[in-house]
Amino acid sequence: MSNILEVKNLTKLFGGLPAVNNVSFEVAENEILGLIGPNGAGKTTLFNLISGYHTITKGDIFFKGNKISGMLPDKICKLGIARTFQVVKPFGEMTAVENVMVGAFCRYKNPQIAREKAMEAINYVGLGHYTDMVAKSLTIAERKRLEMARALATEPKVLLLDEVMAGLRPSELEEALDLIRKVRDSGVTIIVVEHIMRAIMQISERILVLDHGVLIASGTPVEVANNPVVIESYLGKETSFYA
Ligand SMILES: Nc1ncnc2c1ncn2[C@@H]1O[C@H](COP(=O)(O)OP(=O)(O)O)[C@@H](O)[C@H]1O
Ligand SMILES: [Mg+2]
Repeated sequence: MSNILEVKNLTKLFGGLPAVNNVSFEVAENEILGLIGPNGAGKTTLFNLISGYHTITKGDIFFKGNKISGMLPDKICKLGIARTFQVVKPFGEMTAVENVMVGAFCRYKNPQIAREKAMEAINYVGLGHYTDMVAKSLTIAERKRLEMARALATEPKVLLLDEVMAGLRPSELEEALDLIRKVRDSGVTIIVVEHIMRAIMQISERILVLDHGVLIASGTPVEVANNPVVIESYLGKETSFYA
């Protein structure tokens, strides 16, 4: 299997302090890669670097072997990397479908076609009944789905999911896991950031662990769960780990 994404010696400094510190890893095509670590570990910053929302201090990112570091977000989106935002901020007064059209415009300039593509994405994530509702009237779980639909409407090859399962009830969580698997099975490579250990252990084929911006471990879910360094820095504090 070839690598669709390669991150090499990536560093991001904020005010001289490293939020991401010399991180290197590869993502295989069609893999579901989990990314965990305590609050402030640098997970969201890593997504912001890959998707071009933050400038890189040092290091490089390659997508399908081509260097993408330094490119602007819309260019990276067009190449096929989409991300969701941890803090979901839909345009509240706009309808669900209009919010998703914002994603579809990455690929389709014609509003009519963008609307059709947005409808497809909305149906795909199971929000078909909410198409014409204003986004602010949706529940948290529905907004997370809307955020997934917006990202999917850009027709990504790589999808970065930033805590899309946070705040979901157990039944909603199972549905979210099924949706992520469905997206992967359609040919999308996924990196998923999540604090709910049960979910991340279930869905990931491989897991990376960040702590203070440093990649401290990687491996299968079982390897990571039994890694003393990981238990010490992170899992030991996680009451939900075996829940
Ligand atoms: N835009 C920013 N400006 C300054 N510091 C930031 C910014 N974004 C993140 N940070 C800092 O970078 C570190 C990593 O944050 P973040 O990537 O959000 O962690 P995580 O997503 O793992 O909780 C934190 O110390 C945070 O305060
Ligand atoms: Mg975060």
